[in-house]
Amino acid sequence: MCRGVNIAALADAPGRDGARRCVRLIDVARVAGFDTVRLPVRWSAHAGERRPYAVAPAILALVDGVVDHALGRGLTVVVNVHHFDELQADPDGQRDRFLAIWDQLARRYRDRPDGLMLELLNEPRDRLTASRWNALLAEALDVVRGHDRDRRVLIGPVDLNDPGALPRLDLPDDARIVPTIHYYRPFDFTHQGAGWEPGADRWLGTEWDGDAARERVEADLAAAAGWAAARGLPLFLGEFGVHDRAPAESRRRWVAWVRAVAERRGIDWCHWDLATDFGVYDDRTRTWDRPLLEALLGSAS
Ligand code: BGC
Repeated sequence: MCRGVNIAALADAPGRDGARRCVRLIDVARVAGFDTVRLPVRWSAHAGERRPYAVAPAILALVDGVVDHALGRGLTVVVNVHHFDELQADPDGQRDRFLAIWDQLARRYRDRPDGLMLELLNEPRDRLTASRWNALLAEALDVVRGHDRDRRVLIGPVDLNDPGALPRLDLPDDARIVPTIHYYRPFDFTHQGAGWEPGADRWLGTEWDGDAARERVEADLAAAAGWAAARGLPLFLGEFGVHDRAPAESRRRWVAWVRAVAERRGIDWCHWDLATDFGVYDDRTRTWDRPLLEALLGSAS
């Protein structure tokens, strides 16, 4: 069972300072009791625009150091392709570049221990419709399998990995695929006050509580787990969380409930995230939101 947390330090600031900070945050997460870290990386910002679409050696070396640090600490590690916005906007034009990035990553990581999992793409959306994504993910998986037959590969559905899109996800027949979803429902609760969501300030003050709200989560995650089980696959909940401007008690309740339902359904989980505005840890003051940490790692409700 994975009890994990996303660490966004590399996605946002992939320089030497970002890597150093990421290593420090990995240790903070591990000491608290998380056993898994998901490390979003915006590889596309460091890959050439033309064939062979080479990924810059400097970023590869930085990520290697962080990944090996986490693996060496006994953590399960997910590395993904994060914020590849050009691909979402122009799937045909960026296809070769996407596949070339995976060719380089899969070759590079093929000798790492099983604890490393690779995730093809964070939150497909926009012009990456279900049919386009289904075709592209099969090609990308072929590229990975050309180097590494046994690596666990996470693949999520369109609509930003929303579980409601699972029925439109076609997966190749491969027992080492792990379907992944992101859970942010109700969106106006989890994303209240999020600066990048137009109108999100109007949602401030939205509470979350009650039997109907709890049953909705239960039904959503039961359906997702059932979808994966019908294919003989486990399910990974790669992101779930609530913005820190939400009412604290509702935020804690929601996180505790989603985690409890996930664990009851045998779903591995990874909170979004450790130390951004969805975080459970304040890196400036180096203090935990204790009730939220308890909701994640204390005894389940
Ligand atoms: C995005 C973050 C965002 C989070 C919650 C992630 O996939 O990369 O920028 O804060 O989802 O919406």
